Amino acid sequence: LNHLLTTNELKVEEIYQILADAKRFAEGMEWRPEQATFAANLFFEASTRTKSSFEVAERKLGLEVIPFEVATSSVQKGETLYDTVKTLEAIGVHAVVIRHGQDRYFDELVGKVDIPIINGGDGCGHHPTQSLLDLMTIYQEFGRFAGLKIAIVGDIRHSRVARSNADVLTRLGAEVCFSGPREWYDASFNLAQYQPIDEVIEDSDVVMLLRVQHERHSLKGNFSASDYHQHYGLTIEREKRMKSGSIIMHPAPVNRNVEIADSLVECSRSRIFKQMQNGVYVRMAVIKRSLESLKGGFHNETAYQK
Ligand code: CP
Repeated sequence: LNHLLTTNELKVEEIYQILADAKRFAEGMEWRPEQATFAANLFFEASTRTKSSFEVAERKLGLEVIPFEVATSSVQKGETLYDTVKTLEAIGVHAVVIRHGQDRYFDELVGKVDIPIINGGDGCGHHPTQSLLDLMTIYQEFGRFAGLKIAIVGDIRHSRVARSNADVLTRLGAEVCFSGPREWYDASFNLAQYQPIDEVIEDSDVVMLLRVQHERHSLKGNFSASDYHQHYGLTIEREKRMKSGSIIMHPAPVNRNVEIADSLVECSRSRIFKQMQNGVYVRMAVIKRSLESLKGGFHNETAYQK
């Protein structure tokens, strides 16, 4: 059963396979199950991009999307995540996408449910489809990962994107460094060294900015958006010092004039909206991979209209 929980569990060949399928979907490949196939998207935390693009991906593959809103579900009566997923499995849902505030929420499901779980983000843990769409965007730009320098800048400690991307980009041969407030860098990540933004801005091929995740900070109130922008953000002055051919990425939502100057969000270096577009194709590829791992016809190539 092909769950997608973290990028760590994906072998390099599997990553390239997903990226190849995503590219084919972007080029118009058709791939649909012949039999009725149901998916549910369980978002226990807020989302615009991930939830909407999974839904678009599911519909492009011809799946029926079961409406599920935590606020109007029996989660409100105390039903556990496990019982919620078992219920959806029992009534015929073939795959679930879950975003949850608890790190590694999926540990209580794996081995106990017989449908694929696709992680749409767990607490401060992982966000594997974000990482894969970031890889697709980088590969489109440079045609390789080896030898690239990627600066991941901002709220490293609270970012599931930082963790997923540092792991996978390092394995693919890129050099990753972390930047931003030193107190938000955690040496135990052991994946990348810390460098101040003014050192990395000139020699990085990709400057990947992260949102300041106020909702995950225990100490609130001392934050100054303009101070953050001046000390750690991509200002207009810093963008001018970026290497020729280098690009700007951000998983979004963006805090304009905090992580990045308002006018740079859609500048010629920015791939922020391209990332979102690629998210649909990557998610189509991930859903295809999960459905192919199901028993009962889903794995049979002849069961699909190509
Ligand atoms: N990048 C991302 O995960 O965005 P959403 O929180 O809107 O899904």
